[in-house]
Amino acid sequence: MKAVAVAPGKVILYGEHFVVYNVPAIVMAIDRAVKVLVSPRDDGLLRICSDLGFACEYENGTAKPLMGGRKSVTFLEPVRIATKTVLEHFDEKKGLNIDVYSTIPSSVGLGSSGAISVATVAAVSKVLGHEIDKEQIWRLSLQAERYVHVTPSGIDPLVSVYGGLLVWRIQDGSKPKRIDRDIVLIVGNTGIQRSTGKFVSMVGKKKARKIEGISQLMGVMSWISNLALKAFKEMDLVTLGVLMNMNHELLKVIGVSHESLDRLVEATRKAGALGSKLTGGGGGGCMISLATPSKRAVVCKAIEENGGQPMIVRKHNAGVKVQLVKS
Ligand code: MEV
Repeated sequence: MKAVAVAPGKVILYGEHFVVYNVPAIVMAIDRAVKVLVSPRDDGLLRICSDLGFACEYENGTAKPLMGGRKSVTFLEPVRIATKTVLEHFDEKKGLNIDVYSTIPSSVGLGSSGAISVATVAAVSKVLGHEIDKEQIWRLSLQAERYVHVTPSGIDPLVSVYGGLLVWRIQDGSKPKRIDRDIVLIVGNTGIQRSTGKFVSMVGKKKARKIEGISQLMGVMSWISNLALKAFKEMDLVTLGVLMNMNHELLKVIGVSHESLDRLVEATRKAGALGSKLTGGGGGGCMISLATPSKRAVVCKAIEENGGQPMIVRKHNAGVKVQLVKS
């Protein structure tokens, strides 16, 4: 028997970075996903393989790259940590083969590492014969998330677990509130891969040094997220766009934007988007634009003309799904 788990990626509409400090954020699961296949093996070894050209075998915690050189050890580490967390949680010592397939571009702020951790936790638990609920999947996947984001809020694995459009702050724990609305967004990928953890740490240092105005900025971000929630209730797209623009300025102030992101944000606004902002960890990666249907093509063109790769994303309502299949 084999376990197969599928978990969606995400875009953060409002509140990335600030969410680490208990500010409410609005996040949406998207129609791009990770698939993880797990099957048992008899020799006690762990083998992890990704369709991005990375593979490693692990014996007593020591990694031997099979494909992709030393880079594969770093790339596959969240999968190894998620697997180890589940094995330890259930006090199991089993050999496993794990195969990871993804349609979420990696390291660009679209939640691929969160989705990989969530799908790994779900599939490893299932193949070992343990039924776990969504809250447990989320909690167990946080260990791997800490490796990637250093001091994560937990929002990325949360939306991969539950799916949909959610408003959440840390104090809500495993109980995000669903926003029963649909929205289509345009993602602009700068193609610059970067480490979210690095930027989360940088913001943390600024916060710890109490740089001038940082607590006021937290207040402004809470206000933006709460107004966005109200605008969603009324489906007031113009206000949602304005709030995205404001959110981008705040992210610039805390130092997590990048010239490539600012260029796409400017170009999409000029092309007629209602609002644009970076999404996720920043420092490269992706931005998002909200545009009326008649403006979407021209906004996509503006992204392309300014060196980005456009992609239309829609809400994916289901969270992680797992099942057993015959090998
Ligand atoms: C990354 O998608 C979102 C951040 O706020 C980090 C986190 O909340 O874990 C930058």
